[in-house]
Amino acid sequence: MEIIHVSAECYPVAKAGGLGDVVGALPKYQCQAGHIAKVVMPMYRTKFLYENEWTVDFKGSANLGNWFFDYTIIKEPTNKLGFDLFLVDINGLLDRQKVYGYDDDTERFTAFQIAVVNWMRNWEHQPDVVHCHDHHTGLIPFMMQYCYDYQQLASVPTVFTIHNGQYQGWMGWDKSRYIPRWDLWKRGMLEWGESINPLASAVKCAGKVTTVSQSYMEELRYNSNGLEKLFEYERGKCQGILNGIDNAVWDPQTDKYLTHHFGVKDVTEGKQKNKELLCERFGLDVNKPLFVFIGRLVGEKAADILPDAIKSAVHNTQAQANFLVLGSGETQVEWAFQQMVEPYKGIFNCVIGYDETLSHLMYAGADFLLMPSRVEPCGLNQMYAMRYGTVSMVRSTGGLQDTVVDMGDTDGFGIRFNQATVGDVDYSIGRAVSVYQDQEHMKKMRQYMMQIDHSWESCVEQYINVYRSLR
Ligand code: ADP
Ligand code: GLC
Repeated sequence: MEIIHVSAECYPVAKAGGLGDVVGALPKYQCQAGHIAKVVMPMYRTKFLYENEWTVDFKGSANLGNWFFDYTIIKEPTNKLGFDLFLVDINGLLDRQKVYGYDDDTERFTAFQIAVVNWMRNWEHQPDVVHCHDHHTGLIPFMMQYCYDYQQLASVPTVFTIHNGQYQGWMGWDKSRYIPRWDLWKRGMLEWGESINPLASAVKCAGKVTTVSQSYMEELRYNSNGLEKLFEYERGKCQGILNGIDNAVWDPQTDKYLTHHFGVKDVTEGKQKNKELLCERFGLDVNKPLFVFIGRLVGEKAADILPDAIKSAVHNTQAQANFLVLGSGETQVEWAFQQMVEPYKGIFNCVIGYDETLSHLMYAGADFLLMPSRVEPCGLNQMYAMRYGTVSMVRSTGGLQDTVVDMGDTDGFGIRFNQATVGDVDYSIGRAVSVYQDQEHMKKMRQYMMQIDHSWESCVEQYINVYRSLR
């Protein structure tokens, strides 16, 4: 099958979070399974762009409302990522340093989607499926079906995957003129509430809708930032497929970001060496259990409760634990962590920013990974942690509840709690500090979780079945 993935992120080209990891891996494993998977995404000013050679695949022009723009599709010619990669260059609009966070993101991603559909319309053949990811690509199923200019694509099946239903890409109706000439009777297919809602539109228009875990699929029906009724109504075409992890990138035996590699057999010694590096660099005590948090410092991740939870746990365990945080996001949360560095010297440290290399060292060297998320559609961190023998401490929600078994249950290897509160996190840290005293138990849990199979191979088959059901 020929599958066209359309996404705002794709690792290693541009990544802001888990979406990038998934779109960098799923197509690769689809190609390895004998399909032709391609990725098309915006051309940002990233390191990957400047470090690679590109060929021009197509040049075209289109309109965003009254604004006429030229676009260029460039291609990475060597297939070095394991799939064909196409970037859309729209001068001045997409070629920026960051993926998101600009005032004109609506214009940027709407123009991107128009360029993609415009380009596909010019192909001599049709792909078997167009697979769109998250709201930045959510208008594509609508445009392929209801825009007069793209009627050649109306019969091409579309799949939409929700990685995060909290962000929906809302646009006022004044922006409806951005969408190329469309059948006005179909207004309802764009709308939710008072505005154009690209995520809701994709749920209505795509042939199939998937999300990244079974539990999150159910959760969307009672907690989806206003779309609950829509998910209830469309439940027949919705399916949860748990993400995999890219075992070629995330392997403690070969990880290119690590100096000390390890496997199941030498997990204790291997992790210790990585922990020593971390503790030395961040002034922490290597003899105490090391708790880490890696992620966006936003409400969804419940990062805001961590400063108080950590202070409380330091007090309750008589400082028997060390903490290291890596992330960026809301200013007040960043500030709260930074304020703790001096008073908690030797116990707590943080890096405010994004650092891929450090994140790998943290998965490898930590004893425990904290994930108190209020919302977590899948969560990849806990799966990376497992592969690196790090015990995940997660709130029972979404994909976290589908992947982590509490150590109190049969074959358990993690710590689960119910509320994103200081009390639950503090109590769980207490449990972790106790189990850390039993190094034999820790070793058994580590060895067990490292062997759990979260590879993409089995997920690929589930996606192919979704595509086939549309033909
Ligand atoms: P989300 O996509 O909601 O942020 P996921 O758990 O799916 O959460 O994926 C997060 C990904 O981003 C992981 O690969 C994680 O290691 C990475 N990540 C998040 N924040 C940072 C950071 N500050 N530095 C490096 N990597 C990060
Ligand atoms: C989103 C979700 C995260 C998920 C990722 C990849 O960013 O917040 O839970 O793992 O997408 O699907």
